[in-house]
Amino acid sequence: MYLHTESRETTTLDGTWQAIPDPYRSFQDGWFDDRDVPLLEDPHEPADYDVDDGFPVEVPGCVGEQLPGFEYYEGMVWHTRRFDREDNGNRLFLRFGAVNYEADVWLNGEHLLTHEGGYTPFSVEITDAVSREDNLLVVGVDNERREDGIPGMQTDWFNFGGIFRSVDLVATPETFVRNVKVETSVDETVTASITAWIDGPEPGDVHAAIPGLGAEAPLEPDDSDGALTRLTGEITADRDDVELWHPDGPRLYDVCVESESDAVEVRTGFRAVDVEGSDILVNGESIDVRGISMHEEAAGRGRALTPGDIDQRFEWVAELGCNFVRLAHYPHTAAMARRADEEGILLWEEVPAYWDIDFADEGVQALYRQQLRELIQRDWNRPSVALWSIANETDPEDEVRNRVLPEMVAHVRELDDTRLVTAACWFDETDDGLVLLDPLVEHLDVVGINEYYGWYGGEADGVRSFVDDPTGPPVIVSETGAGAKWGNHGDEDDRWTEEFQAAYYRESLEAIESVEQIVGTTPWILFDFKSPRRMNPHQRGYNRKGLLDEHGRKKRAFSVLRDHYCDP
Ligand code: GCU
Repeated sequence: MYLHTESRETTTLDGTWQAIPDPYRSFQDGWFDDRDVPLLEDPHEPADYDVDDGFPVEVPGCVGEQLPGFEYYEGMVWHTRRFDREDNGNRLFLRFGAVNYEADVWLNGEHLLTHEGGYTPFSVEITDAVSREDNLLVVGVDNERREDGIPGMQTDWFNFGGIFRSVDLVATPETFVRNVKVETSVDETVTASITAWIDGPEPGDVHAAIPGLGAEAPLEPDDSDGALTRLTGEITADRDDVELWHPDGPRLYDVCVESESDAVEVRTGFRAVDVEGSDILVNGESIDVRGISMHEEAAGRGRALTPGDIDQRFEWVAELGCNFVRLAHYPHTAAMARRADEEGILLWEEVPAYWDIDFADEGVQALYRQQLRELIQRDWNRPSVALWSIANETDPEDEVRNRVLPEMVAHVRELDDTRLVTAACWFDETDDGLVLLDPLVEHLDVVGINEYYGWYGGEADGVRSFVDDPTGPPVIVSETGAGAKWGNHGDEDDRWTEEFQAAYYRESLEAIESVEQIVGTTPWILFDFKSPRRMNPHQRGYNRKGLLDEHGRKKRAFSVLRDHYCDP
């Protein structure tokens, strides 16, 4: 279960760490001998690395963006730092925002945890392993791609390695509120169904309160698995007394959960997202999706975004007139969804089940469920998150994929049945036109379609031949786009020019508008991003379909999308 930290005082371990590259993995065996202390501290050992003196790197950060010569490095890099314990909590946890791709965590010579998955948070209790002073924390960070990974060996994004989100020490009472989930239903009354997980002995009396509504309710135990007790309760209010969360009015409320020894606060919004026919509804009103896709990347920082990077993204989103963002192709930092809550931007969030995944491998299936669980338990209180996407461009002809993906849809719904489930698929081209034949479609609430007519073949208005099914599910064109090098100008027929990309957007957006069942689009993509698969003279290591380049310089197509959304 996710360790809630948003409303807790935590001790940050961000800052300068020591990085020790280990491409031959020759240091792993030597780290700790049977004395359980690092060999390196023994002055008589001729060690080939010094746990306190590696290459200094900033955490959060990506190794390849900080260490000269390591840009394309894929493999093991040991990250080390020492810390003293300053808290007086009964229990202490170590929490990582994200480590790509696999993290091997040691504290004072004790192996605590191995975590796989590069984009979701994880934590481990260190109460019994931590000392008052001079704790040696060693994290083996391994970003080597793997056949049985999620994602697999091939992605059209850069495989940045590192501890690229914050690391915190989280002190708690003996018995504490580990996580909270607030589910909203909206009709004549608004009901907040509140679930809390109490970690530790004797949870005692637990209650929830929503000060903004002047309401509170007891939470009653309804399940326990030994250490973790689940309690539930409801707070109901007249709809007229609640300001619902909506893109046009993103009202947030604090939900406080208090036990006899602990208290946490969750900031959330009360809203309902549904599908009705081919419409997506927010609080019963259909919405048009005026979206954009984006990767999590900043020039020179890889995936370790700063607050300024997040501000800048939401400025561009507002300037475009968007009400929706696809956070592709993996969970982005939690700060993005918290900011989207405040700005009234609906989100599509996803796990990196992308292209070729070894769906038949049971370990991969377990990892798939783990990554879905870690994302959903982190963001299930975010009113901005409207859709969970389970996959991107996986093979509709693959019978194993067609068996496993519906199981993952079911897993998402077990975790959270208040949001919509989608996936990015492809159209099928038939003599009658474009149709949806992918067997996954019937399991989805909303169908994402990636189409590049006019770039990878066909004409830019190719979507016009989509066969509208008024009784079909809502369709979002989850990707459409063309490449352009910023500053490269020419005729509209000249590929890689800004003029070509602008003309492409004009035609593609008009075609998308012409199809009733398509409720909108999240064009590919807000800004150019690093990709080792993109090396032609216009690309040189970047996918150039951005409306801005990696330095934030706008291309002409930016204003085409803005005008489309703002002056339809
Ligand atoms: C695919 C894929 C993206 C990729 C894009 C492209 O649809 O989902 O990750 O970047 O195409 O070709 O640029």
